[in-house]
Amino acid sequence: MSKRLKTETRRAIIQVFDRLDYAGLGSIYCDEGGYTFWKDRRGPCQELGMKLAEVLLGRLQPKGRSLYVGAGVAELPIVAMECLELGREVAAFNLRAEEVAILNQACQGLPFQFVCDDAQSAKGPFDHLWIVSTLNDPERFPELSALSYGRANPVTFDSVRFAQERATVLELTDGCLSKLVLPGLVTTSVEEIPWITDWCTRREIPCVLEEEDYPTAIVEDPVCLIGIGQARHKVRKS
Ligand SMILES: C[S@@+](CC[C@H](N)C(=O)[O-])C[C@H]1O[C@@H](n2cnc3c(N)ncnc32)[C@H](O)[C@@H]1O
Repeated sequence: MSKRLKTETRRAIIQVFDRLDYAGLGSIYCDEGGYTFWKDRRGPCQELGMKLAEVLLGRLQPKGRSLYVGAGVAELPIVAMECLELGREVAAFNLRAEEVAILNQACQGLPFQFVCDDAQSAKGPFDHLWIVSTLNDPERFPELSALSYGRANPVTFDSVRFAQERATVLELTDGCLSKLVLPGLVTTSVEEIPWITDWCTRREIPCVLEEEDYPTAIVEDPVCLIGIGQARHKVRKS
């Protein structure tokens, strides 16, 4: 059974969600219908985020360091839990400047900030890497994303562009995973598992893919945990 968040942490998370500029976020997350998008997703995003925060509360050690690649609204409850309950240092990166400004505005007074920069520029070692719905981001990697999600059209698929995107993703995966101290933990989406396990296999680093998945409310990719450098690579049943 996972641990429960403290009442003060839940309160802080709810306050941050109350302070978010949903009109501004609407156009960032959705080409059209941003208002309806957030009306539907805000509650589930907050609730599922808190549930995932409780899972990680039982898994992460106090005083460690986490690197977040592509941290947005969905990550707010988990980042808050890490800082407020475990006293961990969080480096939360996102390339969308407007979103980072909105997140930082809503998080004023709390002991964390989001940074608009490439996560590969993060300094120092980390014992937890969060990389969710980023290596298959349709905005940055349209061909790779289509393939990942089983939406690629064989008639129009651009294999040259795909190869460029794959090289960028391999570089990004290496740039972030090589900052992980071993044994370490990776939180990622089920669709991104192959990038993480491939990185481990190439370096003969054992990894354990945990059986359980956790639902998310924005991109809606289920999230899973992978232990890196602690045991032999285990293949999922499903
Ligand atoms: C599809 S969004 C996912 C956001 C969030 N993780 C979620 O699940 O809702 C992908 C995010 O990854 C960010 N991103 C992509 N490459 C990045 C990099 N190298 N460093 C930091 N952020 C990155 C983008 O700016 C964007 O915010």
